[in-house]
Amino acid sequence: MAKEPMRVLVTGAAGQIGYALVPMIARGVMLGADQPVILHMLDIPPATESLNGLKMELVDAAFPLLKGIVATTDVVEACTGVNVAVMVGGFPRKEGMERKDVLVVANPANTNALILKEFAPSIPEKNITCLTRLDHNRALGQISEKLNVQVTDVKNAIIWGNHSSTQYPDVNHATVKTPSGEKPVRELVADDEWLNTEFISTVQQRGAAIIKARKQSSALSAASSACDHIRDWVLGTPEGTFVSMGVYSDGSYGVPAGLIYSFPVTCSGGEWTIVQGLPIDEFSRKKMDATAQELSEEKTLAYSCLN
Ligand code: LMR
Repeated sequence: MAKEPMRVLVTGAAGQIGYALVPMIARGVMLGADQPVILHMLDIPPATESLNGLKMELVDAAFPLLKGIVATTDVVEACTGVNVAVMVGGFPRKEGMERKDVLVVANPANTNALILKEFAPSIPEKNITCLTRLDHNRALGQISEKLNVQVTDVKNAIIWGNHSSTQYPDVNHATVKTPSGEKPVRELVADDEWLNTEFISTVQQRGAAIIKARKQSSALSAASSACDHIRDWVLGTPEGTFVSMGVYSDGSYGVPAGLIYSFPVTCSGGEWTIVQGLPIDEFSRKKMDATAQELSEEKTLAYSCLN
C-alpha cells in the first residue's frame, strides 16, 4: 500500500541551498524512494517571484513522489501540519567573515538551534538538531582522497562541537573498509602530523574555501548533507556506523549541558542517541573544550541580544 505523504518545510526555499535541496527531497533522497512528500516552501516577501518560479520548475519536473506544493511567505501557512522542518533561511556569510557574524537564521547553526529550542518550548528538545553532517562528510571526503579509497568505505569520523572554525574533526575512531577487514584510519594514513594539523584545518575552513572559490557559500553539499542528516535520523543509521549531529548536550563527554553541540550519534526509530564510552585523549579533550567554550560565548552573546 502506498505511504501517506510526509510534509516537509524548507525555509529560505528560494535561496541557493533551497534550490539544490527541494529537488532532492522531491526525488526521495531525504525520506526514501517510496515516501511521497508535500513540499512546504517558505521565503520572505522580496523572494516571492523567485519562489513562484521554483514552484513552476517543480511542477515541470513532474517528480513522481511530489504530491503537493505550498509556496508561501506566510509563516503560519508554511508551518501548519509539517512533519519535518529544515530551517535553511538565513543570510549567507561573505568572504572574510566567520560564521557567527551571520546574525540571521541558518548560521551560526548551533546557536540558532538553541534559540529555536528556547523559544519553541512546545517542541521537545530531542526534535531540534543542527547540521554538522556537512563537516562530517567533508572529513570522510578528505580521508577518502588521502587514501584513494571510496568515500563509502570510510566511516565513524566525528565532528565535535560548533559548526565553525573551532569544530574538532576527530578520526581517532574512524575506520576504512579494506579487503582484509576494517582498519583504523590512523593506521592507514600513518601520518599523525597531517591528521592533527592540515586535515583538521581543511575541514574547519572548507566552507570559507568554497566561498573564496565560488564567491558564494556551499549549496549542493549543504543540501545533500541535510538530506543525509534527516534520512539517517528518520530511517536510522546503518549497524556499526555513527554520524555527527548537533544535539542538545546532556553533559556527555564533559560537554556543558544546555549547548547544542555536535556529537557522534546513532539513530533508530526516529530518535538519536549519543554514542557513549569512546576514549578521549588529551589532544582531543583540549579541542573539544575549546569549541564548547566558543559555543558558551555564542550563547551568552545571543541571550544578551535577545534580552
Ligand atoms: C558551510 O560550511 O559551507 C556553510 O556553513 C556556509 C559557510 O558560511 O561556511
